[in-house]
Amino acid sequence: MITPDQKFWKTFKETNGALSVAESIFIMQAAALAPSGTYLECGVAYGKSAMSACTTLKDGFFYLIDPIFDDKRVLESVYDVVSKINPNIKVKISPLYSTDFLPKFAPYSYVMLDSGDHDEIVMQEINLVKDNMVSGGVIVMHDLDSQFLAVREGYDYLLGTGNYEEIKPNWDEINNYVNENNLNVGNISWHHTELDNPNFVGAVRRK
Ligand SMILES: C[S@@+](CC[C@H](N)C(=O)[O-])C[C@H]1O[C@@H](n2cnc3c(N)ncnc32)[C@H](O)[C@@H]1O
Repeated sequence: MITPDQKFWKTFKETNGALSVAESIFIMQAAALAPSGTYLECGVAYGKSAMSACTTLKDGFFYLIDPIFDDKRVLESVYDVVSKINPNIKVKISPLYSTDFLPKFAPYSYVMLDSGDHDEIVMQEINLVKDNMVSGGVIVMHDLDSQFLAVREGYDYLLGTGNYEEIKPNWDEINNYVNENNLNVGNISWHHTELDNPNFVGAVRRK
């Protein structure tokens, strides 16, 4: 299992957002499988999931998309924190909506979908991305099997195309590592705060 150093965890935990340490670790394992190329995250907020992916993505361009980047101060602070993680990744940040942006820079090697409230946007994004991934490309989806039922529908739809296979998380190994190292202490997150280790990230890989 790939894990980052304490310096990364300090930055991650101090960054506001909606992601657990366990979910961050699974994103690292999934992103490590993506070939070098063009990467995209839709629904970045303040950068927790994007910085997690940066720890293991190879050389490439990483587009970060979220309408909250209309606020220049937010845009600059997220760029600052994410672009420092991996010097081999060129970060491009934009205040756009995913559905407007997605067709622009395809095909992608890595896409993370975490836009808004995961309602009809999920299938809109999946329809735009499903034929626009390179072979071996990785799609990560947040809030799988949480209260947002559309994410599971979208995930199963991708598998049903026959073009994608699951990247199965080893949550036991990840959660044990988090607990043994007390990594959850001090993590700022508004995501399922009632749970010790929210485990709501899934990933698939294009065959
Ligand atoms: C749950 S937060 C993302 C959390 C983030 N991934 C993290 O690691 O903390 C969802 C984000 O999706 C953004 N969003 C909503 N609709 C969107 C869309 N159509 N395209 C891109 N981002 C969108 C919201 O502004 C919000 O910042």
